[in-house]
Amino acid sequence: MPKENKAEGKIVTFVNQKGGVGKSTLTTNIAAILSEKYKVLLLDTDNQGSSEDWGIARINKLESANKLRVFSKHYRGIKKATEVSMDLAEIAASYDIVIVDTPGRNELVSLGVIAAANLVIIPLTPGNFSFWSSEITRELIQKVAAARPDDFAARLLLNMRDKRKKISKEAELLLRELEIPVMKTSTGHRNIFESSSEGLSVLEITAKTESDKEAQREISELISEMEEILGFKSMTKDAKSNTDKKQKKATV
Ligand SMILES: Nc1ncnc2c1ncn2[C@@H]1O[C@H](COP(=O)(O)OP(=O)(O)O)[C@@H](O)[C@H]1O
Ligand SMILES: [Mg+2]
Repeated sequence: MPKENKAEGKIVTFVNQKGGVGKSTLTTNIAAILSEKYKVLLLDTDNQGSSEDWGIARINKLESANKLRVFSKHYRGIKKATEVSMDLAEIAASYDIVIVDTPGRNELVSLGVIAAANLVIIPLTPGNFSFWSSEITRELIQKVAAARPDDFAARLLLNMRDKRKKISKEAELLLRELEIPVMKTSTGHRNIFESSSEGLSVLEITAKTESDKEAQREISELISEMEEILGFKSMTKDAKSNTDKKQKKATV
């Protein structure tokens, strides 16, 4: 049954071995917005620390108005991915949702996060649909999906799209070959995401242009779709009707 205002230690992560596809941007935006309703931890496992820096900027900017907890863990020196997944499961027990930003290059950490996750979102940018992961990551996603069919989903998310253009047939074909469902929501290439790198989500910034407003709509839709996949009630005002709540939870 869908839960109201309760996410029960769900782990959501953004994964792609490539840098610059929007993992940290999406992680931070989603974490800030969800923290309005849920007890959320933003966990940065990338030693580049973009999400952590963003979180520090947020705490400095909003002070007591900030509801999001931010934490970083780089899991240096680990030998097995299960060290990460076991640690994450323990951390998640204290939160409604843990949103995990992952490093592109440290595959062992990403594998551990995927093994513990309830929802894995793979942001893809135009012309970059292939090579988002190694074979071992793709195999792990299939394995986890088979082992936890009611409790795990993976999705591709088209980020930085030029929304004036339709997705080409060639790109559609490439996406289909990845054998992971594509989210209904996609996010455009929008300047406001650059401003949100200073500790605020795009919903906390005043929209000045039509493109800014579109970005706000897209991120709200993305949150609704994530909530639907995770099986709880939508938090965004402009979310579509919730009649679909009983829909079968999609797996990979
Ligand atoms: N939808 C978007 N529109 C415009 N710029 C974006 C968008 N998503 C990410 N960016 C920008 O792209 C750059 C790389 O994003 P980032 O989130 O750091 O990627 P990653 O964490 O995958 O390395 C950043 O400058 C970020 O502001
Ligand atoms: Mg990053």
